[in-house]
Amino acid sequence: MTGEGADSLFFQLRSPIFPLRFSLFDFPSSKLMHAPILNPSLLAGDHANLAASARGVAELGLPWLHCDIMDGHFVPNLSFGPETLAALRRAGVTLFFDTHLMLAEPHRYVEPFARAGANLISIHIEPDYDHAATLAQIRALGCQCGIVLNPGTPAAAVEQLVAHVDLVLVMTVQPGFGGQSFRRDMLPKLREIEAWRRERSLNFRLEVDGGIDLETGRECRAAGADSFVAGTSFFRATDPGALAAAFAQL
Ligand code: DX5
Ligand code: ZN
Repeated sequence: MTGEGADSLFFQLRSPIFPLRFSLFDFPSSKLMHAPILNPSLLAGDHANLAASARGVAELGLPWLHCDIMDGHFVPNLSFGPETLAALRRAGVTLFFDTHLMLAEPHRYVEPFARAGANLISIHIEPDYDHAATLAQIRALGCQCGIVLNPGTPAAAVEQLVAHVDLVLVMTVQPGFGGQSFRRDMLPKLREIEAWRRERSLNFRLEVDGGIDLETGRECRAAGADSFVAGTSFFRATDPGALAAAFAQL
């Protein structure tokens, strides 16, 4: 699955006037492009039985699983490797693996994760490597690609890339750990990126990650989000099925 006409649009410049119009609007859900997806984060699953946690997600009819990959450098924590994804595939898990690479050198790992069964691979904009070439490599490997921004990174940092991705992920916590509080100050950045998508007739998904529950999810939806990563709120929910149904109505 690859995006259309990526290379020919890559170096188009955009007027700096646009940003002024982006923060003035909240959009009723009927105008938003993609149906909402609740995307459970496996980091909050049972690390002694990750396949069972993944099957629990599938049994609720949820299509995606968010896989957090941490290297102890770009973020101060460690999580899973390519073998974890490959083992889940061998265990019969067929969910769409939304693979979030929190790595200082993601370009060195996109191929192992693609071969291990990732369906979408997201890379951060902050480290210094060839972002455009790595996004193109992810698509050449047959995966969808995504670009991720930390809370301290302005939307402008990815403006030249949004026409070349299938997903933009706006971190709503500083990455590295689950269970943190949602950062409401990320909502204007969501609106700005949503306005680019609408004004330029782009088709990427807009994802949020960190401190997402039904209340914060609703606020993000109003600002343009359509993919909601949820670790604690999903795996600690007394009724995850009811949570999934509520997110589907956003
Ligand atoms: C944090 C990860 C998130 C995290 C979300 O760096 O990228 O995906 O697992 O967990 P909650 O939903 O508990 O904030
Ligand atoms: Zn994540």
